[in-house]
Order: sequence, then structure tokens, then C-alpha cells
Amino acid sequence: MRRYFLKTFGCAMNSSDSERIETILESIGMEKTEMVENTDVVLLNTCSIKQHAEDRVHGFVHNAKKMGKIVGLTGCMVKNSSLQSSEIKDPLLKKYKKIDLVFRIEDILKLPELLKSFDPTLTQPELPIDELDYLNITPKRTEKYRAFVPIMTGCDKFCTYCIVPFTRGRERSRPFEDILAECERHVLEGVVEITLVGQNVNAYFVDDSVRVPLQRQTDFATLLEKVAQIPGLQRLKFTSPHPRHMGDDVLEVMAKYKNIARTLHLPVQSGSSRILRTMGREHRIDTFKKITTKARELMPEITITTDIIVGFCGETEEDFQKTIKLFEEEQFLVAYISKYSSRKGTFAESKLKDDVLLPEKKRRYDVLNEKLKETSQNENKRIIGDIEAVLVEEVENGMAKGKTHTGRTCVFSLHSSTFQKIPTSCVGKIIPVKITGSDVWSVMGEEIV
Ligand code: SAH
Ligand code: SF4
Ligand code: F3S
Repeated sequence: MRRYFLKTFGCAMNSSDSERIETILESIGMEKTEMVENTDVVLLNTCSIKQHAEDRVHGFVHNAKKMGKIVGLTGCMVKNSSLQSSEIKDPLLKKYKKIDLVFRIEDILKLPELLKSFDPTLTQPELPIDELDYLNITPKRTEKYRAFVPIMTGCDKFCTYCIVPFTRGRERSRPFEDILAECERHVLEGVVEITLVGQNVNAYFVDDSVRVPLQRQTDFATLLEKVAQIPGLQRLKFTSPHPRHMGDDVLEVMAKYKNIARTLHLPVQSGSSRILRTMGREHRIDTFKKITTKARELMPEITITTDIIVGFCGETEEDFQKTIKLFEEEQFLVAYISKYSSRKGTFAESKLKDDVLLPEKKRRYDVLNEKLKETSQNENKRIIGDIEAVLVEEVENGMAKGKTHTGRTCVFSLHSSTFQKIPTSCVGKIIPVKITGSDVWSVMGEEIV
């Protein structure tokens, strides 16, 4: 058993965790493959944020088993690291006999032991199993030029619809020095863009033991500033911050350091304060707007993106219209819109009524998506004529694609002198681009030499 296939579902935190899974498996001599056909083991790093996310995982398990593979799951669907033969078995293993093994991501070091029961010849990693915080496992970076660095994990907020506090557990911050050391190492190795990740990045505390629950002031601004000061780091991003901890201190640090990307992802969830109350989000629309107003005051070029749930319990047409109004006022560049999906074990599932029917949820989703096309197009149009720094992600036929410092997707033509060299060597470089046009979801331009 020498090859594995790994598929990641869900958020940036899962993508970052998958890079640590790769480190562990490669340390025991296993090799990653991109084709399920070529592998012995299929590992799925799962997400349970919506029913649809879980359904996709089950579909994948079904297909992999049909192909005769050993199937292992980790991520947010898993509660206890175990095998079908274990005494204490994870509920998933009981329910789905097809799944061979599951492991909690914190128990990643147990994975080789679990796999050994399928292939006794596998070696074991030489790592101090009991002491090691799994977040300190050096990730196997998939890309040379950018890195995701976890700074905290878990969530204490218990929004009434959300499963994350149950799957990821309580908020826990990683030691300050470990984060800085990891970021510095990445930059020395040539990384130009770092994204700090966590379920609520700005609930970061240097010392978790002195934290007061739901405290507004945190140590995130201090951490952000220290990382921004790393010599050679060209672009710094973070996701997701929570409105509750979004103080002026964070915005001021953003404004002070030009290498921090000019885009702010601030999940609001609804444009109606009445719905925000039943969602257990302790911000209201006026507090959300105070943050975005301040951000735009300090950084007029900034773009704002958000997350929205449509059709939450009790959401009326009037509430929904308030969400549309918020889109018009905020001119979001991007919004991740979800139809409310009831999650077992949450407050909303047991105490509130999922009373917006699916066709109506779909209608609201479509209406909001149309509104988003308008606001995104407006935001993209805003920079025609400007020069933006673009981090190149792909190059094809003389055209490059990447993200601007303001978070916009940009497609642009490379100058012939660049193109005549090795065009693919532009991937991972930051190139100045004159913006000449715009579309719904992107801007177009040409390289400036
Ligand atoms: N911590 C972040 C969000 C993490 S979850 C925050 O609080 O903003 C990512 C997104 O999934 C959420 O922002 C929300 O829009 C969506 N989501 C979470 N639970 C959901 C549910 N039960 N139904 C539909 N969407 C959900
Ligand atoms: Fe879920 Fe709310 Fe925590 Fe975000 S803050 S992860 S939405 S419980
Ligand atoms: Fe999904 Fe877990 Fe992230 S539920 S969104 S993978 S924290």
C-alpha cells in the first residue's frame, strides 16, 4: 500500500489540514496520486456545514468502494478516531459499514497506525506522538508561492444554525512564536502570499487562559502586524474574521501595512437585525455597517465580501428585502450565499421551525445571486484605468489569470517580452497590470513593463 488519493471538502482550514495529512503520509513513504484508479487508499477530508456537503462525501465513498478501495474519513464529520474493528467506534462507522477507518484531525499522528492494520509493512513516523500539537506539523505545500497558516481553530460562538462548534470544538489559539516562525520559514522558502486561517481568525489570543468569552478586544491585530512586518512578505490575507471581534485596531493595522490585501471578508449572514438575533449573531446591521464604513474610510480602495444564509427559520419577505437592501448599500464584490440547511444538534434544529420551503429558499437564492452580479460588476468597473498588482495563478496562450491586491479576479495579456521568456515562470509572481475592462466576476487588463 504505497499510494493515496486525498480529496478535501469545506473551508480553508480543511485545505490547510490536508497539507499536514500529506506530510504525515509522505513521512511513511506513501505517495500522493491525483487519480482514484491508481490508488489503494482514498482519504476524504470532510465538511458538514450543510447537508449537501455531507451528501457529496457519501457519493464519493460509494464510488470509491465500488472500485474496491480502502476508504478513510477525517474532518468535520468525524467524532472518534477508529476502525470497523475498534471497541469504541465512531457513529459514522456504525452507520456506514463501507467506511474502513476514520480519524479526528487532531489525531492525525494515529493515521499511520490505523493504516497499518491494512498493510503491516507500513513504517511509522518518527515523531513524538503525545506531545505534538497537530498544527505544528510542517505542511506539505501544494504551491511554492502561497501558504495557508492556521492561527486558531474551533468556535465558541454557537450561532443557532451552525454545526462548527460541535465538530471543531472550542476556540484554541496557536502559540504566537510558532505562527511567526512558520510564516518566516515560508517567506524564506519563496512564498509571496500568506493567508492566516481559522474559524474566527480575529478571536486570536496570545494566552487563551486569560480570554473572557465573547470579549471584543483580542490579540489578532498584534499578530497581524507582526506577520505583516516579515521582510519580503508581499501579500498577507486572513479568513474568516467575525464581526464581533472586528475592532478598529485590526482595520488600522490593515491600513498601515501596504502588503495586507485590500479586501475584507466579513460574514454578515442576513440583512435583517431581527433574523441576526434569532441566528444568535450578536452583531446587528448598524454594527456591521460601522465596521465597513470605517474600513472604507481608512482604505477607500478596499472591497468587501461576505457570507449569507437565505431562508433561515422565520425569514419573511420583509427580512429578505433587507438583505437585498444591504447588498445595494454595501456593494459586495463576492458573497457566498447558502440556502439554510438544518443541522442535527444545533439550537435551530431543535427549537426553531425550518419554515421557509425549499422552492422559496431557491427563489431567494436566485434573486440574491442576480443582485450580487450587479454589485460585483459595479465593484469591478470601479478600477478601470487603475494599475493593480496581480498575483499570477495560471498562464495560457499569452494570457495570465490571478488575483489583484483588492481581491478581484484579473485576466490579462502578458507583455511580449515576458511571454517570450518562459511564460509559465510568471506563475507565483506579482505583476503590475493596467486595468482596461471589466465583467461580472472579473477585470481585464494588460501587463505594464
Ligand atoms: N466563522 C464564520 C463562518 C464559518 S461557516 C463566521 O461566523 O462568519 C461558513 C459559512 O457557512 C457561514 O458563514 C454560513 O454562511 C454558512 N453556513 C453555516 N451553517 C449553515 C447552515 N446550517 N445552513 C446554511 N449555511 C450555513
Ligand atoms: Fe459557525 Fe457562528 Fe462559529 Fe461562524 S461564528 S463558525 S457561523 S458558530
Ligand atoms: Fe466545513 Fe468544518 Fe470548515 S464544517 S466549513 S470544513 S470548519
